[in-house]
Amino acid sequence: MAFPKNVRLVEMSPRDGLQNEPGPVIDTAIKTGLIERLADCGLTHIEAASFVSPKWVPQMGDAAEVMAGINRKPGVRYSVLTPNLKGFENALAAGVDEVAVFGAASESFSQKNINCSIAESLDRFAPVMEAANKAGIPVRGYVSTVLGCPYEGDIAPEQVAKVAKALADMGCYEISLGDTIGVGTPLKAKRMLEAVAAQVPVEKLAAHFHDTYGQALGNLYAVLEEGVAVIDASVAGLGGCPYAKGASGNVATEDVLYLLNGLGIETGVDLDKLVATGDWISRQLRRHNGSKVGQALGGQCA
Ligand code: HMG
Ligand code: MG
Repeated sequence: MAFPKNVRLVEMSPRDGLQNEPGPVIDTAIKTGLIERLADCGLTHIEAASFVSPKWVPQMGDAAEVMAGINRKPGVRYSVLTPNLKGFENALAAGVDEVAVFGAASESFSQKNINCSIAESLDRFAPVMEAANKAGIPVRGYVSTVLGCPYEGDIAPEQVAKVAKALADMGCYEISLGDTIGVGTPLKAKRMLEAVAAQVPVEKLAAHFHDTYGQALGNLYAVLEEGVAVIDASVAGLGGCPYAKGASGNVATEDVLYLLNGLGIETGVDLDKLVATGDWISRQLRRHNGSKVGQALGGQCA
């Protein structure tokens, strides 16, 4: 058992956290206010928005305005989701630092989420990779449903490994493994990670665990033991996926940070400021704060 000395936290709340928020589209100023506060906490990788179809995900319809409105902090990478070349071109024009393509290990989820098969999705990503390469923009790759699919149930670890390898071979510098509906348990997470790490070096892997069943911290502990040193999380546990009914948010960043601090793992992120940010956004959205650590250390929101 050898934990990494440092972990890079990739903050998901402005994108994964807000994409599924019910009700009217959230003010752009709240989104940019959240992003600026997160940067001030010491987070260096922030997924700020999605350049997807606004008909599919209305909350992300102001992605260009969000990118234009952020008071950018030097040293912080502001990234966005881009499902196709159109998304990439819009993202490039908006001045993003990094983009991400997103595929799935399950055929049914791929169809529901991006309206195409896994093979078709890889074909759509190829021109994005090419254009990003030309523009010098790093590309991250996501694989969804790595520990279970809302439509197909169990997913074979080898299938996850196959899609992860395809994304890595295309040139994604990092592959983020999504437990989209948060159904995984620690041993399952470890087995999946081992299968993927046999195809893609563990240094290139990130854990993206939703906390629907309250297992995300346990699952993270399991993959930290396997050498994973990049963790996606969302302040106040904001979020859910619009194409995975009932899925709750990513594991809360405050909870992950508390765990990592307890293990003596460095992140460069300030827990007090993060708790204040989780409290602030929960109040703005009039939403229950989904972070246990946020609840214990901060003011409970109305
Ligand atoms: P489609 O309907 O198959 O695409 O959607 P199309 O190429 O046929 O285009 C249809 C319309 O969409 C056209 O407009 C296009 O211009 C427009 P119309 O002529 O009807 O007015 N369009 C776009 N508009 C803006 N930006 C674009 C874009 N592309 C096409 N980039 C598409 C295919 C992928 C676009 C659609 O399915 C989509 O936008 N899906 C969004 C999926 C999504 O955002 N899901 C949530 C994020 S993934 C996630 O949460 C999982 C993750 O967190 C990991 C995990 O937890 O597992 C990453
Ligand atoms: Mg997600």
